[in-house]
Amino acid sequence: MEEQDWAQVVAAATRAPSIHNTQPWRFVAGPDRLELFIDPGRALPVLDPSGRQQVISCGIALEFAVVALAARGWAAEVEELPDGAGPTHLATLRITPAGDASVDDRSLAEAIDNRHTVRAPFAARAVPEELLERLQAEARAFGTWVKPIARSEEEVATVFLISRAEEMEQGDPAYLAELESWLRTDPAAVDGVPLGAVPSEDPQERASNWLIRDFVAGHREQHAFRAAGDPTAPPPEVERPAVVLMGTDGDDRTAWLRAGRALGRVLLEVTAAGLVASPLTQALDWPATRTRMQSRLSLVGHPQMLLRMGYPREPDPDAPSPAVSGRRPVRDVLRFEPAG
Ligand SMILES: Cc1cc2nc3c(=O)[nH]c(=O)nc-3n(C[C@H](O)[C@H](O)[C@H](O)COP(=O)(O)O)c2cc1C
Repeated sequence: MEEQDWAQVVAAATRAPSIHNTQPWRFVAGPDRLELFIDPGRALPVLDPSGRQQVISCGIALEFAVVALAARGWAAEVEELPDGAGPTHLATLRITPAGDASVDDRSLAEAIDNRHTVRAPFAARAVPEELLERLQAEARAFGTWVKPIARSEEEVATVFLISRAEEMEQGDPAYLAELESWLRTDPAAVDGVPLGAVPSEDPQERASNWLIRDFVAGHREQHAFRAAGDPTAPPPEVERPAVVLMGTDGDDRTAWLRAGRALGRVLLEVTAAGLVASPLTQALDWPATRTRMQSRLSLVGHPQMLLRMGYPREPDPDAPSPAVSGRRPVRDVLRFEPAG
């Protein structure tokens, strides 16, 4: 494949979501293959000392590359961790011509540009059971699983563990300093989480049981005396998200990469079906709450991602649209290897 085509495929791969929008990846392209490396310079030593969430992020980018290639008529064979336990080389993707792309290939590739993490409350409309079943089948194809958190005792346990983890995080100065270093106020920022993409109200006051990661607690404290809401206003519509836990049997780099690939597919399927999603990973950040989740939900295997999904609400014409997170230019993350 030509360099300009690789640049477009890598541009699609880098649309992948990543923890705190760290974009912890590097690519090297040759005529018939693409190599994916994790970039240790973009690590989160406090939140993610093992690199688990960063490998998951890279797995999503890998799958976005596979989808972008399929839409261009290329089949990709993925070799995971080609150097065994080699520290940074995560995958080699070899391509062969595959003929015309299918309608599904094209619609998933379109979803790459349309997908964004949506942290706002969702509409009061249930997620179709049939979509959840399809996501479970997609995840199984990667040797991973998707478990809807549907029973009320599971929901209560999960909500409790998220709140517990959020409380631990808000009391941890090292966590807060790391988070702050990835928050962005400049709308042109090429990485990090834009302030305009995270809810500014207290997440405890939202019309949902599910606690969105509080990116701006530090900023909000300066405005402690907010005006009370209009007491005559109707109560807010209660969202009806589906919350699913994604997991793997193992808990090593291969499992994390697989979890990321499955998550990449799941997010694109969700987007193509007209829904939106946001990860809620606080309870999985810390070994204590992650292990408790395993036991409270009687999981066989390891939780890797908690995802809230639903239908978006009609945009409020008076409210500013949420900011879209930036991406580093392709030239900063892609290197070409000479042929031969
Ligand atoms: C492994 C992983 C964990 C994440 N955890 C959270 C989270 O706990 N809360 C949240 O609001 N967003 C979370 N995100 C979403 C990222 O913040 C988001 O992908 C990034 O800021 C880029 O924005 P975008 O998804 O809109 O492109 C997570 C993403 C990944 C890949």
